[in-house]
Amino acid sequence: MADNRLMLDMTRAIAPKISGGIPEDRLVAMSQAASRAFQQLTQWREDGKMGFSKLPNDKALLDETLAMVKDVRGQYRDMVVLGIGGSSLGGRMLTQALAPKPAAMRVHFVDNVDPRTVGELLGRIDLQGTVFNVISKSGSTLETAAQFLVIRDLLRGRFGKKGYADRVVVTTDPENGPLRAIATREGLRTLTLPKEVGGRFSVLSPVGLFPAAAAGVDVQAVLDGARAMMDRCSTDTVLTNPAALLATLHYLADREVNRRIHVLWAYSDALKPFTDWYAQLWAESLGKRLSLNGTEIHNGPTPLGCVGATDQHSLLQLFLEGPEDKLVTFLNVLDHQAHVEAPPASDVPEFGFLGGVDLGALLDAERRGVEQALLEAGRPSIRITLPAVNARVLGELIYLYEHATAFAGALYGVDPFDQPGVEECKKIAYGLMGRKGFEQFADKVRSGDGNSRWKLT
Ligand code: PA5
Repeated sequence: MADNRLMLDMTRAIAPKISGGIPEDRLVAMSQAASRAFQQLTQWREDGKMGFSKLPNDKALLDETLAMVKDVRGQYRDMVVLGIGGSSLGGRMLTQALAPKPAAMRVHFVDNVDPRTVGELLGRIDLQGTVFNVISKSGSTLETAAQFLVIRDLLRGRFGKKGYADRVVVTTDPENGPLRAIATREGLRTLTLPKEVGGRFSVLSPVGLFPAAAAGVDVQAVLDGARAMMDRCSTDTVLTNPAALLATLHYLADREVNRRIHVLWAYSDALKPFTDWYAQLWAESLGKRLSLNGTEIHNGPTPLGCVGATDQHSLLQLFLEGPEDKLVTFLNVLDHQAHVEAPPASDVPEFGFLGGVDLGALLDAERRGVEQALLEAGRPSIRITLPAVNARVLGELIYLYEHATAFAGALYGVDPFDQPGVEECKKIAYGLMGRKGFEQFADKVRSGDGNSRWKLT
C-alpha cells in the first residue's frame, strides 16, 4: 500500500466472491455505460454546481480564513459556532477528529435550538473570552437566526455595540441573504462562502476550515489530501476512479441486489463525526422525489453511521441475521496514534490471553471478525483503509465522499445539490413563529391539531 493515502478494497462486495454481492458482470457493464454520469458531472461543473471541487485549490479563500484565525486566536480562548446541518457538521467533524489536545482554541458547536443545550453552554463559557462564528449559506435559516439573536442580545448588553461586533464572525454568501445584510449594517467581520458551494458540500470552505484551524487543525494538510484525492478522481474510468467506483457500487447494491441501506462503519471514535457528516451528505443529496427530468421517483438509499467495536453490541446482530438490505463500508485505521496495552495477566487465568494485547490490535481483530462474519453470511462489505486519522488522510476521505455523492446523484439521475423537500417544513415553522406571509402554512398545522380518538392523554 502507498504510504499515506487511502486504500479501497471492494473484494468482499462483489459476487461471486460473496453470494449476496454486486454481480461482477453488472459492475463491468455499468462501468462501460457510465459515460453519461461523467457527462452529467461536466454539465454540473459548467452550471456552477460543483463548487466544492474548486475549494482544495482556492488559495485566496484559505489565506482569508487563516488571517481571520490569527486575528481571533490572539484575543479569544473559546469559539462558539452557530449553524446547523451543512453549516455545522463539517466543521465539527474536522475539529473533533483532528484538533490537538489541548486545542489551540476550545471550539463548541451549537447545531440545535434545544434550550437546555444552548442555555447550559452560555452559562458555562466565559463571554469575555469567546468569539462567535455564525454560519449560514442562505443567511436565513430559522435555527441559526434564533441562536444569533440570543447571543447578539447577550453580547450587546454586556459589551456594547463595539464589543459585540468584535466578538462575531459571520460566514455566509458573498452578497445575498439577511445575515450578509446584518453583517454589513452592524460592522461584523465576515468570511466568504462561495456562491457555487452548497451547505453540505462546504466543509473545505471557511465553513469547516475556520473553526477547525482555530482549534489548531492543519487545514492546509486537509486541502493537500483533498487535492490528492481529486487527482485520483480525475479519470473518466469507473474502475480506476475511487469516487466513481464507490458510487457505482452503492448504486448497484441498491438497484441490483436490493441493498438500500448504506452503512458507514468507522473503527475509530475520532471518525464518528465523519459518519454523521456522511449521513447528511448521502441522505440530503440523494433522497429526492423528482428525477432530473421531472419524473416522480422517490429516490434515495438510507445512510447509517456506526462505530466499532461499540455497535457490534448494538446493530451487528441485525446486520448479520436481519433483512439482506445493507451494504457496509468499513473505515479501517492502521495507526491509532495511541497505545494502550493490557498488562500481563497470568494471575487472571480467565483473561490471560489478553495479557500484553494492544487495544488498537484488539479493535482491528474485532473489525476483521465482523468482515468475515458478513462474508460468511453472504452480506457485502467494502473496506476503506486509512493509514491514520490525520489531516491529509481526512482531506482525502472528505473529497472522496463529496465526489462520490455527486457521481451517485448522476447515476440515480437526481440533483444532489438541492433539498426541495425540507422547504415545506421551514415554511410551516416560519408560520408558527409568526412570520408575515407564512400564516397559511401554520393554519394547516393548527387545523389538524383537533380532537382525535387516537390521542391518549
Ligand atoms: O446542505 C444543506 O444545504 C443544508 O443542510 C444546510 O446546510 C442547512 O439547512 C443550513 O442552511 P444554511 O447554511 O443556509 O443556514
